[in-house]
Amino acid sequence: MDTLIPTINRLQEVFLTVGADVIQLPQIVVVGSQSSGKSSVLESLVGRDFLPRGSGIVTRRPLVLQLVNVAPLQERLKTENGNGIKQNAQISYPGVKAEEWGTFLHCKGQTFTDFQEIRQEIVTETERTSGDNKGISAEPIYLKIFSPKVLNLTLVDLPGITKPEDIEAQVQEMIMSFISNPNCLILAVSPANSDLATSDALKLARDVDPDGRRTLLVVSKLDLMDAGTDALEVLLGRVIPVRLGIIGVVNRSQHDINTQKSLEDCLRDEQAFLQRHYPSIASRASSRYLAKTLSRLLMHHIRDCLPDLKTRVTVLSSQYQARLNSYGQPVEDQSATLLQIVTKFASDYCHTIEGTARYIQTSELCGGARICY
Ligand code: GDP
Ligand code: NA
Ligand code: MG
Repeated sequence: MDTLIPTINRLQEVFLTVGADVIQLPQIVVVGSQSSGKSSVLESLVGRDFLPRGSGIVTRRPLVLQLVNVAPLQERLKTENGNGIKQNAQISYPGVKAEEWGTFLHCKGQTFTDFQEIRQEIVTETERTSGDNKGISAEPIYLKIFSPKVLNLTLVDLPGITKPEDIEAQVQEMIMSFISNPNCLILAVSPANSDLATSDALKLARDVDPDGRRTLLVVSKLDLMDAGTDALEVLLGRVIPVRLGIIGVVNRSQHDINTQKSLEDCLRDEQAFLQRHYPSIASRASSRYLAKTLSRLLMHHIRDCLPDLKTRVTVLSSQYQARLNSYGQPVEDQSATLLQIVTKFASDYCHTIEGTARYIQTSELCGGARICY
């Protein structure tokens, strides 16, 4: 099962390359009211501090964030180096010496190893299209994070639901364009210190997912509840049941951000907080538990989508094949190569889903990563 997600990620890359929006791929999308903690939730999933966050409308463009786990590749490089087969690990890591790095679709050929610079680039790119006032833009920013510490997930950060009304309508439309995709998992973020019954996040999720088949509720800000109250009833699903689950988290507070408290320290303190205040459900709460749950849900989701994906890929593949054939003799130009790549991916992909359990070679993963430079 673990090989399915890299496969999907690679397919997405190819379809981005050929500019064909043929396959709707599963993504995880965060929704919720402004400052409910959406960006903070995503950041703790990534385990790195790099998203612009804060009070007010900070996230003003969709951010499509693809996490790529490079641990298998790094393991293999270590083994090979140990055996003296390959002495220079940089051969497989063109230009990248760091353990973790990021690339933006709009910054071709540029690698970001400093996560502060990634944050700055998101801010700059946001301002480029939506202005430095409070405007918003529906044009997504595409960011990839390569790290040995992340799960293979594609996440989408969105602006929050907010007043004034003109922005509210615009934001709602933008959110809808992402979450109405039946192939997306909705991460509805609702702060524990406001009434769940009026949760913007759940309201929107219900509109597109009335049966709750693809909505997971994240209850943030458990640490900010009034003294003498707690969220146990909510977390147990006794207030509003959510089929896929309800996960309580404590994200970094503004004070933690200002004092540059490390994410590791925050995750540790979150765990301690949950043990102290919610001992009976501490093992089913926390940002870490959320990451695991998401990964599992995503794999189930992909599995459910496979028959349909397979049909589409097969149709596409034979269309390209027919077009290739119509060209007569093989041509050695770029477009033919591209078509062949797509065709090859399509057939590789079909093999995978037919259960041949073809393991994606780390060398291929490396080749895939190379596309980004
Ligand atoms: P977004 O607008 O939904 O993306 O929210 P942000 O992630 O930008 O968070 C808004 C503010 O709330 C920031 O100052 C965060 O530090 C703070 N915040 C988010 N989640 C929590 C939480 O669980 N506990 C505390 N104390 N603060 C939080
Ligand atoms: Na905010
Ligand atoms: Mg945000």
